[in-house]
Amino acid sequence: MRILVTGGTGYIGSHTVVELQQGGFEVVIIDDLSNSYAGVVDNIEKITGVRPGFERIDLSCEEKVMDFFLRNNGISGVIHFAAFKAVGESVEQPLKYYRNNLLSLINVLKGMEMHGISPIVFSSSCTVYGQPDMLPVTENSPLKKAWSPYGHTKQVSEEIIANTASVTQINSILLRYFNPIGAHDSALIGELPIGIPNNLVPFITQTAIGKRECLSVFGNDYNTPDGTAVRDYIHVVDLAKAHVTAISRLMKSENRQKVEIFNIGTGNGFSVLEVIQSFERISGQKLNYRFAPRRPGDIEKVWADTALANHVLGWKTEKNLDDMMASAWKWEKSIRGKYE
Ligand code: UFG
Repeated sequence: MRILVTGGTGYIGSHTVVELQQGGFEVVIIDDLSNSYAGVVDNIEKITGVRPGFERIDLSCEEKVMDFFLRNNGISGVIHFAAFKAVGESVEQPLKYYRNNLLSLINVLKGMEMHGISPIVFSSSCTVYGQPDMLPVTENSPLKKAWSPYGHTKQVSEEIIANTASVTQINSILLRYFNPIGAHDSALIGELPIGIPNNLVPFITQTAIGKRECLSVFGNDYNTPDGTAVRDYIHVVDLAKAHVTAISRLMKSENRQKVEIFNIGTGNGFSVLEVIQSFERISGQKLNYRFAPRRPGDIEKVWADTALANHVLGWKTEKNLDDMMASAWKWEKSIRGKYE
């Protein structure tokens, strides 16, 4: 069974390729390397002993995507990660985000439709919920107006898939991720932010290793137990395994609807200060941080209701916050001085 993984050299994509290969799937990756490195393919091979197929293609180019599908028979399913994901940049450059994220999806779906390929697992985000009125957030919570073009591309992508699934052979699972962090135990793959990280955990580990001077904790006056914002952090390997479960469910026709949606989180919320404390516990070192004003666009708190994922999808997380931080720290130390 051959799975096309778009964005397969990226952070979540690479961990998913490893889990797919270890689950007996054959993988072909498409990535344009706009936010990742070709060397990731070597490291996937080091972990699994199997080299995935790899093609460097910009998925927003329809001609190249159609050519790929013409040349590649025997694709049994698609996991679509390829997208830009920097929330702040999407506000500055909305057209870049709408163009890339939507055209890439449209081209992949068109290729699938033309060649009779199904299913597709799509990388969505809890950002589609905005600040939910009730916590934990279930899959039935209303989608609020997106706070960024990035978030909007995820909402529109979900609709494009649902509309397409209703009139084609394509079945789909939309996975709404909460906050993926951490890295593979081997420390051969992990998150490789280009430039100054936007996200909390890479900023913590880069501060601890001396690449950044001080972490700014954005806001300590939220309505949360310690005043800092709360998120549902999930280990990237647990998240990767959810994709293998989802594509397997679809390929065995166990899905109950043409489009199913699952929240992929742990169900636990942790504050920024709790994440810092976990880092200090596992690393044995104090982190230099200071409180700063709230970051525009940030929500106060969100964590997942995981009942559907646990009982219908049949998937559960295995790793706790300390595991996540320990693997992120091991990864940061392993890439010290590289990728500068
Ligand atoms: N934070 C800091 N300091 C930093 C960076 C982050 O205090 O230097 C705080 C943020 O204010 C927030 C928390 O840490 O409270 C988590 O922030 P991240 O940037 O790591 O994650 P977000 O929750 O903002 O965003 C992530 C992904 C998005 C996705 C979103 C869904 O980056 O792609 O989750 O909620 F859309």
